[in-house]
Amino acid sequence: MEIIHVAAECFPMAKVGGLADVVGALPKYQIQLGHLAKVVMPMHKTSFLHANEWDVAYKGEMFMQHQQIHYTIIKEKSNALGFDLYCVDILGLLDRESVYGYEDDQYRYIAFQMAVVDWMSQWQHQPDVVHVHDYHAGLIPFFMRYCQAYTHLSSIKTVLTVHNAQYQGWMDWTFANYFPAFDQWKSGMLEWNNQINPLASAIKCADKVTTVSATYMQELMNQANGLEQLFQYEQGKCTGIINGIDYDIWNPATDSRLLHHFDVQTAATGKQLNKKELCETFGFDIKLPLIIFIGRLVGEKAADLLPDAIHQSFERYYNQFNVLVLGNGNPAIENALSSIRERWYGYYHSQITYNETLSHQMYAGADFLLMPSRVEPCGLNQLYAMRYGTIPIVRRTGGLNDTVLDVGDGGYGICFNQASLLDIVYSIGRAIELYQHQELTSSIRQKMMTINNSWNKSAAEYIELYYSIYR
Ligand code: GLC
Repeated sequence: MEIIHVAAECFPMAKVGGLADVVGALPKYQIQLGHLAKVVMPMHKTSFLHANEWDVAYKGEMFMQHQQIHYTIIKEKSNALGFDLYCVDILGLLDRESVYGYEDDQYRYIAFQMAVVDWMSQWQHQPDVVHVHDYHAGLIPFFMRYCQAYTHLSSIKTVLTVHNAQYQGWMDWTFANYFPAFDQWKSGMLEWNNQINPLASAIKCADKVTTVSATYMQELMNQANGLEQLFQYEQGKCTGIINGIDYDIWNPATDSRLLHHFDVQTAATGKQLNKKELCETFGFDIKLPLIIFIGRLVGEKAADLLPDAIHQSFERYYNQFNVLVLGNGNPAIENALSSIRERWYGYYHSQITYNETLSHQMYAGADFLLMPSRVEPCGLNQLYAMRYGTIPIVRRTGGLNDTVLDVGDGGYGICFNQASLLDIVYSIGRAIELYQHQELTSSIRQKMMTINNSWNKSAAEYIELYYSIYR
């Protein structure tokens, strides 16, 4: 089967969140299963772009309203990712350093999606499945089905994966003027609440809709930032498929970002060596349990609760643990996390930045990872942590609910129900207590590290899903 993945991010070309990790790994595992999988994304100006060589695969032009737009499709030369990576370059529009956050993002992503469809329409053959990820690629199923110039693409099957339903790409109807000419009778397929809603449009138009865990799919029926009724209506074509992780990248025995490698057998000493590095860098006492948080500092991740939760936990369990936070996002949360540094000096530190290398070193050297998320469609960090022998402390939501089982139930994590200060502080107390029982901790570590969370199984589930709609 030939599968074309379309997304805004793909690791290591460009990463903002977990979406990039999924798009950077799933195609490789689909290829291992004997299929042809490719990725198409915008040409962001990142260090990966500059560090690699590219061929021009196609040059085309299209009209957005009355303006002629030239686009170029470039392809990474060396197959560095284990699959063909194509980027869409539109001068002055897509060739920018950040993935999102520009005033003209709506226009930029419309142009990106139009170029992808226009390019595909020139192919001598047709792919079997176009698999779009999140709203940035959400208009593509509509364009393929209802634009007059692309009717020959209308029989190609399309799949949408929702990595995060909070963001939907809303735009007012004037933006429809930029779209390729489409059947006006089908405008409803673009619409939700009197606006163009690319995520809703993809849910309506795609042949199958997936999200990244079974629990999140259930949650979306009741809580989907306004799309609940649509998910309920379309539930016949909706399923949850849990994400895997890329075992080539996330392997503590070979990870090139680590200073000390280890595997299940050598985890106790290996983790201690990594912890020592972290403790020296951040001025912590290595004997105390080290709890980390890694992620975007936004409300969805309940990062706004962290400053108070950390503060209250230190007041309650003073001298008994360390905390290290890595991430950036909402400036108010960033400031609050920086401002408590002085008060808890020697026990707490925050690195307000995005740092892939440090994140690997933290998974390897920490004892616990905290994820109090309000919303967590899948969550990859808990999977990375477990693979690196770090016990997850998670709120039971979305994928966290599906991948972490509480120690009290014979599992390997600490789980709680509410994204509240009370629950977080209480769970940190449980972690401190668990840490006192070194034998139990090391048996939990053994158990976690041997769980198979690789992409193998989930990649095969996607293939099965494609076959279910295929001809
Ligand atoms: C989004 C979600 C996260 C998920 C990731 C990959 O970032 O917030 O839970 O793991 O996408 O699917």
